[in-house]
Amino acid sequence: MLSQHGLALPGAGLGRMYNFCAGPSMLPEEVLRQAQEELWSVRGSGIGIMELSHRGKVFDEILHETEAAARAVGNVPSNYKILFLTGGATSQNFQVPANVLPENGVAAFLTTGYWAERTWEEIHVYTDRAYEAFSGKGGGYTHCPTDGEVVYKEKPVYVHMCTNNTLYGTQWRHADGSIRTPKVPEGSFLVADMCSDIFSRPVDWNKFGIVYAGAQKNVGIAGISIVVVREDLLKPVRKLPRMLSYEVLARDESRHNTPPVFPIYMCNLVFNWILRQGGVGTLLKRNLDKAQVVYDVLDRSKFFKGHARPDSRSLMNILFHTPSARLDDLFVEEALKAGMDQIKGHRNTGGMRASMYNAFPREGAEALAHFMKEFERRHG
Ligand SMILES: Cc1ncc(COP(=O)(O)O)c(C=O)c1O
Repeated sequence: MLSQHGLALPGAGLGRMYNFCAGPSMLPEEVLRQAQEELWSVRGSGIGIMELSHRGKVFDEILHETEAAARAVGNVPSNYKILFLTGGATSQNFQVPANVLPENGVAAFLTTGYWAERTWEEIHVYTDRAYEAFSGKGGGYTHCPTDGEVVYKEKPVYVHMCTNNTLYGTQWRHADGSIRTPKVPEGSFLVADMCSDIFSRPVDWNKFGIVYAGAQKNVGIAGISIVVVREDLLKPVRKLPRMLSYEVLARDESRHNTPPVFPIYMCNLVFNWILRQGGVGTLLKRNLDKAQVVYDVLDRSKFFKGHARPDSRSLMNILFHTPSARLDDLFVEEALKAGMDQIKGHRNTGGMRASMYNAFPREGAEALAHFMKEFERRHG
């Protein structure tokens, strides 16, 4: 099937688009096919996955496999617990301080984008002594800071960072795509929002106390967050409702109440897909390669302008503009006709945002690059 611009549409004849959505986002085809079958009957049980008891033997098996697969995919050390929680990553804005920040304790924030800023705002519910050790606001959130730009005026219990800034298309990374982390005062620990790049590249977990991510971009579907907590941080610093306590949730294997059965199952399928691809090392190479296809067009263009500073360019979300808001709208409209959906930028930034997570195919990046060059030829 060809679009009106002569581009091959993905899943020809299957009614599928290249989905550039920032999340929820594309899943591997084989994962969708297996889930489709197991909606009817999972693992020969005669019961569909959405109808399955969270206390039965089949789910026991699925839950334990999912935890083991997450550990294998991420190479997560044994002194970290992996929790599968509801409430989205946004709930970690209060669950983290509730568990680890003592009454009016100090926490430092590296506000590199929209979501980091939301986390920073929310901390005021817990303390008056939090501060921004770096703010990217004045610079328009175009980069992630070097150590020289981060200033700790008081020793914090923890430093909060967001490893990939979904809205602005910046990422804490080295040139080879590997993760870059900020300096942290001796005795403080890092808390990372990895919503938009968890399990897209290798991570040295020992640098982090707590990592959290909604699954809906790189590892699954909406309705579940993966929270990785170092064991010494499990015990809450204050009396908490049980559903808020990492200690209780870890003790009860993320099923203190009815857990998100289907989202956990979907993560298991995606984790196993990642392992079959060769793991996160292979994904990093692919993600670097896919992103470069689009960055190459930006670098050669006099028409399109990328948002991120080259040293902080995200491999997951690529933000760019044409010379005018009118042409941006036209780009989005024509891209849709060419089989590329959800490429409009966030309302805060305007322009376009191409999100290409783990399961996004290289052909989609090529299709976009081709379309951009054609668009520039026609409108530049
Ligand atoms: C970096 C980042 N943090 C937090 C969130 C919020 O996640 P949730 O919607 O799961 O609460 C998002 C969602 O897009 C995100 O990209």
